[in-house]
Amino acid sequence: MGVFEDGSAGSRPETVGIGGDLSQTLQLPGLQGLAGELESVRFATILFADLVGSTKLISALDPEDARDLLDGSIALIQQAIHDFDGLVVRVQGDGVMAVFGVHPAATDHALRGALAARQIVDRMRKGALGLLPSPQARVGLHAGPILLRRQDNDFGSIVDVVGHAAHLAGRIEQLAPPGSVAISSSTVSLIAEPCGLRTLGSVAAGGNDQAGDDQGEAVFELLSVEFAGGDQVPVKGNATYPIVGRDGLLKRVRALVDSLPDVDASAARSGPALAIVGEAGMGKSRLLLEASRQAAGLGVTFVVLRGNALMAAVPFGCLAPTVRHLTELLRPFCPDPASAAQFTPEQAACLQGFVANSGDWLPHVAPGDRNNIAAQTIVGIVQLAVANIPLLLLIDDMQYVDKETRSVLAAIRAATRLGMIATGRPEAALRLASLCENMAHLAPLAPSSARELVALISRSSPLDATVVTNILHRSGGLPLALQEFAVTAQAAPESVRLPARLENLLAERLASLDGDATRLCQFCSTLGPAFPASRLRKGAGLICRNPAVAIARLVEARVIETTYADHVRFTHQLVQEAAYRTMARRRRTAMHSRALELLDPTAPDAEQASHAELATHAEKAGLLQRALGHLWDACEQALGLAALGSVLVLYRRARVVAGGLPADVAAFETARFSLLAFDTLQQLSLEQETRADIRAIATGSVQMRPALQTVARINMALLDWIDGAPVAASAWLAQAEADLATRDSLPRRTYADVVGAYIAFSRARPGEAIARIERLGARLVDGMRAATFGAVVVIPHVLARSFGAWYLVDLGETARARSWIAEALNLSRRHRHNYSRLLANLAHGYLLYRQGRSAHALTVLRRAYADCLRHRFHGFEPASVSWLALSLIDQGLLDEADTVLMESAQRGHYRTVRTAATYYFHEARTRLALAQGNLAQAELAASEALEHCRDCGEAMHELHALVLREEVRVASGRAPPDDHAEALASLGGLIGSLGIAVLAKRLARLQEHMA
Ligand SMILES: Nc1ncnc2c1ncn2[C@@H]1O[C@H](COP(=O)(O)OP(=O)(O)O)[C@@H](O)[C@H]1O
Ligand SMILES: [Mg+2]
Repeated sequence: MGVFEDGSAGSRPETVGIGGDLSQTLQLPGLQGLAGELESVRFATILFADLVGSTKLISALDPEDARDLLDGSIALIQQAIHDFDGLVVRVQGDGVMAVFGVHPAATDHALRGALAARQIVDRMRKGALGLLPSPQARVGLHAGPILLRRQDNDFGSIVDVVGHAAHLAGRIEQLAPPGSVAISSSTVSLIAEPCGLRTLGSVAAGGNDQAGDDQGEAVFELLSVEFAGGDQVPVKGNATYPIVGRDGLLKRVRALVDSLPDVDASAARSGPALAIVGEAGMGKSRLLLEASRQAAGLGVTFVVLRGNALMAAVPFGCLAPTVRHLTELLRPFCPDPASAAQFTPEQAACLQGFVANSGDWLPHVAPGDRNNIAAQTIVGIVQLAVANIPLLLLIDDMQYVDKETRSVLAAIRAATRLGMIATGRPEAALRLASLCENMAHLAPLAPSSARELVALISRSSPLDATVVTNILHRSGGLPLALQEFAVTAQAAPESVRLPARLENLLAERLASLDGDATRLCQFCSTLGPAFPASRLRKGAGLICRNPAVAIARLVEARVIETTYADHVRFTHQLVQEAAYRTMARRRRTAMHSRALELLDPTAPDAEQASHAELATHAEKAGLLQRALGHLWDACEQALGLAALGSVLVLYRRARVVAGGLPADVAAFETARFSLLAFDTLQQLSLEQETRADIRAIATGSVQMRPALQTVARINMALLDWIDGAPVAASAWLAQAEADLATRDSLPRRTYADVVGAYIAFSRARPGEAIARIERLGARLVDGMRAATFGAVVVIPHVLARSFGAWYLVDLGETARARSWIAEALNLSRRHRHNYSRLLANLAHGYLLYRQGRSAHALTVLRRAYADCLRHRFHGFEPASVSWLALSLIDQGLLDEADTVLMESAQRGHYRTVRTAATYYFHEARTRLALAQGNLAQAELAASEALEHCRDCGEAMHELHALVLREEVRVASGRAPPDDHAEALASLGGLIGSLGIAVLAKRLARLQEHMA
C-alpha cells in the first residue's frame, strides 16, 4: 500500500546528472507550455513502452500494412498516456517514453502512469488495433527525480529529460514479459490504490542488474490496479504530506471503514455513518481523502458524491456521476445490473438515463413521480453493490447537494448496509445530522499540530522561527491557511512578507498572475470550483493569446489542478471564490458570456451543461431573457421529475431575474412562470406566493391566451378557497365557467369542477359538491378522453374522487365512498402520482376512522402522514396530522397524539391552510384535551375551532365545530345557555336537511344524553 506522504517516500534519491545516463529529446508542440517546468528538478513517474517482436512482424508484412501497424500502435500508446495526463517525451521507432506529473503537476503521477500502462497492454491484448496478428507491448514504470531541460538547436527547441530515474525506467521495462507492465517497488509504494503484483526480479540502483540482489530495487509485474476508473468522481487529493492533528477522528473513520467488510449486507439495519462539519479550509475533504485511502487499504470500495453549487437546483445533479461510477463497479459481478436487481422497465430506464447522463428518462411518466422511481432504482443499485462488495460512500460538501439527491441518500441510508461519511460546512449541519447518527466538528489545529504541519511543508528548507510564529499567528489553526502561508514563505525564504489574512494571501497570489493567466483564472472561476478539463482547454482557446502557457501558469501557481477523471478544479474552493470575487463587474459579465458561448447547447461540439447552469451564465452575462428561457427549460425538467424543491428554487430565481427587465416584460415573465409552477407550489403549500402573478393574468392586466386566463381564474378560485375566502372563490369560478361556456375544454372543465366541489362543500352545499364530482367522472368515463389528455385530466379526477369520498363518508354513503377511494388509489398508483395517492390514502384513513375501525385507520394514516412529511406536501399536513391524531386518541395513544400534534403545530403549516383541514387540527386538539381530562383546554380549543370556521367561511365545518362545542359542554357538565334547546334544534334541522350523517348521529347521541 502506498503511503503518499511525501513525494520521495520509498525511493532512493538519485543523483541528477546533467547529460548523465540518458538524454532524451523530443520536440513538443506545446513547448512554451512547459516554460514553468523547465530547469527544475521534478519528482515524476517515467513510462517506457515498446512493441514486442515488431521487427519480426514488420518483415512479414507488406510495407503499407507495416506502417499502419506501427502508426496504430504508437497512436494507441500515446492516447493512453494522454488519457492520464502524461506527456509523451519521445517516440523512437517502436518505442515511446513519457512522463507523468510534470505538466500538469499532478501529485498522483505514479497512479496515472500505472493506469496508462495497464491501458496500453490491455488494449493491445484485446486487439484494439484491429490488426492480426496483434502486436504486444511491454511497459516499464519508475518514479524518481528528473530534470527537464530546454535546448535550442538548429531546428528549434527541444526538451531533454535528464536523470538516472529515467535510465532505470528503461531497464525496468526490459524485465517485463510481452504484454505486461513492470514497475519498481518504490513506484508501487506511491500508489494508494491496491495493486495486483507478481515478483519479477530487481534492478541494481548502481547499474549492474542482479536478480535477487537485496541491495537493488525490486521490480514487480503490475497485474492490475484496483482503481475504479471511467467516470470516477475523484477524491480531492492535493496533499503530499501526511495529515496532522486529527488522530481521534481518523480513528473513528478507520473504525467505521474497518467494520464494513464484516457487515451483514442482508441485515435490514442501516450501515454506519459519520458526518464531519467544518468551515472552509478546515480539512474536510482531506479527511475524506484519508478515508478513501484507508478504505483502499482495507479492501473496501469507495464511491464519492460531491456537492456542487451550480448543480444545487438541478434534480439529481450531484448524484448522476456517482451512479455511473456505481454501475461501473458492479460490472464484474453483474454485467446487467437492471436484471440482477429485478428492476421494473421504468427503473431500468431510469438507470439508463443516469448512465447516459440524460435528464429525459421516462418522459411519458408525467407528471408521474419519477423521483420515487429514481430513489428505488438507486437504492436497488446500492443494495446490489453492497451484496457483492463492502462499500463506502464519501459525500463532500453537503451544503451544495440538491434536494432530490438528499432524499435518495436518506433512502439509501435507511435501506442498505452501506457505510457513509459525509462532510459539509456548518450551514449543512442539520442536513448532515438527519443523515448520519454520528457527527464530528472540526476545530482549528492545536498550535503543536499547526507547527508540525508547517514543518512538514517546509521540510526541505526549514523556515525561520519568527516566520513560523508569524504563520501560526495568521492562520488561527486553519489548515488551509497554514498550508498557503507556509508554501508562500517557502517560495521566498529571504524576503518573506506575509499578508495578514488568508484571503489577502490568495488575492495576492492571483494578482501576481500575468494578463493571460488572470483572464483564464477568472474564466475558470465562473465555471465553479470544479469542471471538466475540456472546458478549460476550450475556454483557454477562446480567451488566451497563448492557451498552453496560461494553463501551465495556473497549475504552477497552484491555482488549479487536475484530477483523475479528466476534471480540473481550483486547489481550494476559497481560491475559486477569491478569483470570482476580485473580478470587476464588467469582466465578470464578459466571462460569463464566454462560458455561455462555450456551453451553448446549439453549438456543434457543445459541452454538456444543465439548463440551470446555462441560466446562471446567461443571467450573470446580463442576458436576462435568455436566462429566463433556460430557467423555463430547467423548470419543465424539474416538473417532469416531480422535483418540487427545485421548481420552487427555479421559480424564485426567475422572479429575481425578471426583476431586471422593464416592468411590463417582467410582469409577463413572472406570470408565465407562476402558471408553470403553481401546481408544485400548491403541493408545498406555498401557492399564495403566486397570487399577484396569477391575479394579473386572471384580471387581464397581463395579457395571455384566453385559455390561460381561464386557468388563472380557476387558480384564483383555488387560492381564495385555500385562503379561507370561499365566497370570493365562487366569484372567480363563475368567471372561469363563463369563459368555458364560450370556449369549452375538457381539462379546464375538469379543473373547474374539482375546485368548484371544494368550494361548494366548504359553503355547506354538499349536494353541489358531489354533483360536480359525478359530472366530472362521467365526462371521463370514456377512456379515450383520459388517454388523450393523460394526467392533465386523470390527476384532477383522482383528487376529486378522494375529496368526494371524504364528503360521502360525512353524508353516510360509505359504500360509494369505498368505491371512489379504490378508484383513486388505482389511478394514482398507475400514474405514480404521490400527491394524489396521499390524498386517496387520507380519504381511506378517514373512512376507516369514521367507521370506528381506528386500529386499521391508524396503520393507513401513519403511513400517509409519513408520506406527507417525506414529500413535503405541506398543504395536506393539517388533514394528515389531524386525522392521525384522532385515530390515535380513539386508540388511547394519547402521548403519541400529543407529540404529533405538537410537532405539526411547531411547523405551523396549519396556519396557511385556511380550510376544513385546519378545523380538524383544532378538533383533534380538543379531543386530546378531553381525553386527558383537561376540560379548560378542551373548551379553548373547541372555541378556536369554531372561530377558525367562522373566520374562514367554512360554513360546513362550522356545523362540526358547533356540535363539538356542545360535546365539550356536556362533558364539562356546564349548564346550557337559555336559548340552548332552540339553537340545538335549528342546528339539528340544518344538519338533517343537508344530510350530514356523521353529525346527525353525534347530535342524536347528545340529545339522548341530555334527555
Ligand atoms: N489535518 C491536516 N493535516 C494536513 N493538511 C491538512 C489538514 N487539514 C487540511 N489540510 C490541507 O489543507 C487544505 C484545505 O483542506 P480541505 O480538506 O480542502 O478543506 P475543506 O474541505 O474543509 O474546505 C488542503 O490542502 C489539505 O490538504
Ligand atoms: Mg472541501
